[in-house]
Amino acid sequence: MSKLWGGRFTKKTDQLVEGYTASILFDKELAEEDIQGSLAHVTMLGKCGILPADDVDKIKDGLLKVQSMIRRGELEFNISDEDIHMNIEKALIDEVGPVGGKLHTGRSRNDQVATDMHLWLRKRVIEFVGLLAKLQKALIGQAKANLDTIVPGYTHLQRAQPILFAHHLMAYVSMFQRDAERLMDSYKRINVLPLGAGALAGTTFPIDRHFVAKQLGFDAVYENSLDAVSDRDFILEFLSNASMIMMHLSRLCEEFVLWSSTEFHFVELDDAFCTGSSIMPQKKNPDVAELVRGKTGRVYGNLFGLLTVLKSLPLAYNKDMQEDKEGMFDTVRTLQGALQLFAPMVSTMKVNKDRMRQAVNQDFSNATDIADYLVGKGMPFRQAHEVIGKTVLYCIQNGKFLLDLGLGEFHQFSKLFDQDIYNVLQPERVVNARNVYGGTAGNQVSEAIGRAEEAVGRTNGWFEEYFVKSR
Ligand code: ARG
Repeated sequence: MSKLWGGRFTKKTDQLVEGYTASILFDKELAEEDIQGSLAHVTMLGKCGILPADDVDKIKDGLLKVQSMIRRGELEFNISDEDIHMNIEKALIDEVGPVGGKLHTGRSRNDQVATDMHLWLRKRVIEFVGLLAKLQKALIGQAKANLDTIVPGYTHLQRAQPILFAHHLMAYVSMFQRDAERLMDSYKRINVLPLGAGALAGTTFPIDRHFVAKQLGFDAVYENSLDAVSDRDFILEFLSNASMIMMHLSRLCEEFVLWSSTEFHFVELDDAFCTGSSIMPQKKNPDVAELVRGKTGRVYGNLFGLLTVLKSLPLAYNKDMQEDKEGMFDTVRTLQGALQLFAPMVSTMKVNKDRMRQAVNQDFSNATDIADYLVGKGMPFRQAHEVIGKTVLYCIQNGKFLLDLGLGEFHQFSKLFDQDIYNVLQPERVVNARNVYGGTAGNQVSEAIGRAEEAVGRTNGWFEEYFVKSR
């Protein structure tokens, strides 16, 4: 059979044009959703009296046959049939004869492809909320095991104040919580049905768009037919959310890479998540963390790619929009890979508590606390800052840490120092003194873990509910 749209043409398509314009090599990914959408569409055509029941049944049977052929890998896709929509329609007509040609009544590939993309992305977004919850649980597990692990906290990558390692990990749990909630919010805009918009203006057939929406589990129908076929905001929003998740992962990656260096030696990633060197026998490289950090670039690229494709595009559908797919597929694959690897990499990570503790004992991260100590004795903070600055300088010049100073040495800087300063300077005291909501004190972090578990429970509950709905 010739092209489904061949009537108006007198010449064959140039072979190079065929290859250049075809999308079947990548949009075959949408096969399941295309058939799902067609089944709902033809059921509606029957219900509205647009097609006789007999034709509807034949088309449905044919679609199910094509579906199992595709699932078994038996359908051969052809570049000359351009895209997944026409490949499936051709296969249907081969299967059931000319009646198959009635499927496309009241429909265009423009509203069809948009519908497929909404169905496809909806499933993935739901799965990502579940994958994020798994990663958050792994982080919470490590946090619970490290409620007494003190580690230097950094600003400018310089030792700042000691914190609980649990507190550090819980910061990432908060980031991934925002990510999950952003995805859940975006779902409202993904779960809207374009079908029924036709090519751009609607259709002359008395269709029932709400009936199709209900069958496919869409919560709403696009208000405007032009918008329905030309909107790709929902994909951009996903690419932006994915970029932010990758950015968060890349920050954690960077910390893993640093922490597993000999210089830090704070953690050791499990052998199963590292690789070796082909020349240096001693090497154990944190490749997964590095690669996730690196792959963040392609996800940003996909976001910028699509933003640029859509820039200045006039309404309604333009072939440019076929470029919306590969970046979306690639982003989903990249993010899936990263999130799937990260949860077990986090839970199998060994935390070198002693090494962290040793680091805290050998720095000036308790300096703020002696300044606060002097403030407690009545000195204005600005003056206390100056006094402790001088004390630290004295320590550096004499190769000492604050806890090494005798009371006599402290008195050179202020007479307000007393014996109790040695308690104040202990890392446990320093950490637990930050007893403010959201702070690093042990009881605050324990409570924060409890609240995070509830929050993750909520997003994971959403995932479980919607996962079932989307099957
Ligand atoms: N393969 C096309 C795409 O992905 C389907 C829509 C084609 N519509 C059209 N009028 N040529 O964008």
